[in-house]
Amino acid sequence: MFEEIRDRFSEDLKSVQSLQELNNLKVKYLGKKGIITAQLKSLSTLSPSERQVVGKLINNIKLFIENEIASKELFLKDAELQNLLKAEYIDITLPGKYTSYGSEHPLNIVLNEVIDIFIRMGFNVEEGPEVELDYYNFEALNIPKDHPARDMQDTFYISEDIILRTHTSPVQIRGMLKRKPPVRFIAPGKVYRCDADISHTPMFHQVEGLMIDENITFSNLKGILVAFIHMMFGEEIPVRFRPSFFPFTEPSAEVDMGCILCKGTGCRVCKQSGWLEILGAGMVHPAVLENVGYDTEKYNGFAFGMGIERIAMLKYQIDDIRLFFENDIRFLRQF
Ligand code: PHE
Repeated sequence: MFEEIRDRFSEDLKSVQSLQELNNLKVKYLGKKGIITAQLKSLSTLSPSERQVVGKLINNIKLFIENEIASKELFLKDAELQNLLKAEYIDITLPGKYTSYGSEHPLNIVLNEVIDIFIRMGFNVEEGPEVELDYYNFEALNIPKDHPARDMQDTFYISEDIILRTHTSPVQIRGMLKRKPPVRFIAPGKVYRCDADISHTPMFHQVEGLMIDENITFSNLKGILVAFIHMMFGEEIPVRFRPSFFPFTEPSAEVDMGCILCKGTGCRVCKQSGWLEILGAGMVHPAVLENVGYDTEKYNGFAFGMGIERIAMLKYQIDDIRLFFENDIRFLRQF
């Protein structure tokens, strides 16, 4: 009879597929109303000597059943884990998604280099609006309405009095109105002129420079600009000043440096002259200082302005200014 129970259990166990079913089986045999429990209870109806023999047999089967269930439980738990591992498998060997790196725009590289050099020489950085009043862009700079000098800069008009600034020089006026002399700052930024060909774009960048103090001379201007050109392009580069005209400076000069491409022997870029024009400069006109209320008996100074695109084109030997703004990745990746 006990063998029968044992065989039946073994049959039952074979068909168990899950932990839930295993638990049901456990209840069926070992639970409060289980088959084995019932057998153990019935021991009390036996005589003491029978009880010893039968009790031992039942206990053996109980142990057997407990062992079988324990090992089946281990097996089922392991199978469950394997299934989980299979279901939640992530293939970490797949290649990741490619993200390309950006790089600094060549104009920003050059702009930051220029700013760094002037900061080292003690200049502050000043900014002003790109949409500007005619007054700051022209009038305060000694360029009255209908003055022929306005033709030098093709202006975008927003209204009678409001324009897109044609140069960074209006920042001179705003900067001087904001503070008392001495002043020493540069003003980098975007400027706009109605012009477009391989060396002109309607928007481009300038860096303005201004220094006002007592006893500033043309030598100070020369010293600063020669030092700048040497730091930017190399100690060996020759620099020359040519007389020129700007309404807001007197005397005015155009500053050339020796052609960095042909080393002065003459090439297409320098139009066979051996020189490249890179700056406009001069001693600030007293009329400009008067417009901002500075005492012209006591203070004077110099100003200069340069185009960043031109410097970047020379530095990287770029022959078409429009490349800067087309955003062609093949161009931009080269810097
Ligand atoms: N503002 C002038 C221009 O854009 C450059 C300049 C600046 C010249 C300061 C002299 C002094 O052409």
